Amino acid sequence: MTESRTRNIGLKKNDQKYTQVIVNPRFCYVQTKKQTEHTFPREIFQGLQRKNKFIHPKFFYDEMGSCLFEKISTLDEYYLTRAESEILDTIKDNLSKYLRTDYSLIEFGSGSALKTRKLLEALTQMQDLVEYYPIDISDILKESSLDLQKDYLNLKITGIIDHYESGLDFVASIEQCKLFVFLGSSLGNFDSRGAIKFLRKIHDSMKKGDYFLVGLDLVKDRQVLERAYDDSMGITAKFNLNLLTRINKEFGGNFDLKNFEHVSFFNEQQKRIEMHIQSKVDQEIWLSQIDVAIKFKKGEMILTEYSHKYTVDQIYSLAKKSDFKVKEIWKDKNEYFSLVLLSP
Ligand code: AVI
Repeated sequence: MTESRTRNIGLKKNDQKYTQVIVNPRFCYVQTKKQTEHTFPREIFQGLQRKNKFIHPKFFYDEMGSCLFEKISTLDEYYLTRAESEILDTIKDNLSKYLRTDYSLIEFGSGSALKTRKLLEALTQMQDLVEYYPIDISDILKESSLDLQKDYLNLKITGIIDHYESGLDFVASIEQCKLFVFLGSSLGNFDSRGAIKFLRKIHDSMKKGDYFLVGLDLVKDRQVLERAYDDSMGITAKFNLNLLTRINKEFGGNFDLKNFEHVSFFNEQQKRIEMHIQSKVDQEIWLSQIDVAIKFKKGEMILTEYSHKYTVDQIYSLAKKSDFKVKEIWKDKNEYFSLVLLSP
């Protein structure tokens, strides 16, 4: 990868927050200068010290976790990816009614950008040039952007390697109409208040004519839901328990994985899948990097993820609470998943 530093992408001179890297005339990225990694062990410890133990799902995605998640996405039981892709297959016809001029595409959590291709396929056919701004905390976007660039010659990419909210501040100055996208039901991983707060922040950075396309998983048969989060090959269990391996490797923990197990279930009342790690025995764990111990009782659980599922009524209520108007709700043929088009 050849890198130079000449393209102006709107960073202020001597920008304190970002380092800018120009890879080629059609791809550059900015990376936040602030290194937050050193706060991770403390954050993990604080979560494990609480009465109801908790590890934030953002910690799933180290190299192994990202790889396991890619595997989950291909499992028969994990219907989400397939259902969303099915809806994206008709996205060009569906969106062309709304996108009457040229749009910049801003994507939260682009990851390996596989589903993004379906959107880019549509946009690059509809426009002479498409400006694409993937926002992702993982630098996987460096590789995926180079791949995308090879396949779409009228695509210009500015990657933002940062948290979503800071990335939003970065794209606020884009003049062109914007299509924001947040695929994969990742909004469902926020807690209810966090989801509304994030939606409001997106709403407030939008102008008239902008749109937001968000993937939301729908409430369905409990068995279908629970199988998706406890698959027969045990990949989801590995994905969940990899959190402990990560803590061992990066923060000097001594979790013995034999003494913990993956637990997931659909919480009917809250309409969400909950993933937990349960301790099989009474035990004490040591985090050597910060020199602290954590006690576990037999049967005690660590909450690792919520994955909210929505009814159509809840989608309308979520939109209302964050000041959005629902323009469309597109579903797959099984009505398992939805892509929702919102306008400010
Ligand atoms: C990333 N996110 C939308 C996934 C989900 O379905 O909530 C994460 C996941 N957790 C277990 N399997 C997949």
